[in-house]
Amino acid sequence: MAAAKPGETASLEQIRRHWDRQAPKYDKAMGRIERRVFGDGRTWVCSKARGRTLEVAIGTGRNLPLYPEDVELVGIDLSPRMLEIARKRAREGGHDADLREADAQRLPFADAEFDTLVSTLSLCSVPDLDATVAEMRRVLRPGGRMLLLDHVRPTSAPVRWGLLVLQWLINVVEPGNGEQMMRRPLPVVRSQGLVIEESERFKAGAVERLVARKPE
Ligand SMILES: C[S@@+](CC[C@H](N)C(=O)[O-])C[C@H]1O[C@@H](n2cnc3c(N)ncnc32)[C@H](O)[C@@H]1O
Repeated sequence: MAAAKPGETASLEQIRRHWDRQAPKYDKAMGRIERRVFGDGRTWVCSKARGRTLEVAIGTGRNLPLYPEDVELVGIDLSPRMLEIARKRAREGGHDADLREADAQRLPFADAEFDTLVSTLSLCSVPDLDATVAEMRRVLRPGGRMLLLDHVRPTSAPVRWGLLVLQWLINVVEPGNGEQMMRRPLPVVRSQGLVIEESERFKAGAVERLVARKPE
């Protein structure tokens, strides 16, 4: 198994294996908590997608039924097992989608190919957040929008401490998990030159959703 690079908690191969193992349980586990933790976040994000749209780290495709009908959807994920479930969901009426295995840190697409970039609950899992946002920016056309939803470093100190303990436990029990509890994509998105048009933070500052535009 490839070792993690310096600064990463898990290698890409470890993360792929982790999500392949999680795939059969993911929908049930996520279905139990996502309304409580993320509210209407998935609908909020997906309803804003327009035109040719790339969902990065699409997982089992839980967002598929939430996109407007006329969105032309492409989805990538690292885990073949997560993608298998996404393909089944697409076939069963979720939404037509071209689903491919790929690394979010090296997207197999041309510059400015997409009108919209989406990522939900995934920028906490990729090994390198800056590289992933840079790739998402590269394939987004000028004037296009990036739509994100994730758990982030909480503003509340007690919640932050609780999540730091959870992070420590995850690292000890399952080092290949790759989950990052203290990340926050918004400053990274802004530092890469996108303009934040909307952002909302809730649940003690531990959940954030945003719309960012790539300048023309
Ligand atoms: C918590 S799941 C979220 C899935 C989905 N986005 C959702 O909203 O339910 C995290 C996903 O990120 C994917 N992932 C992690 N690192 C990745 C990478 N470097 N490239 C592509 N996908 C990645 C995992 O395979 C997994 O499907």
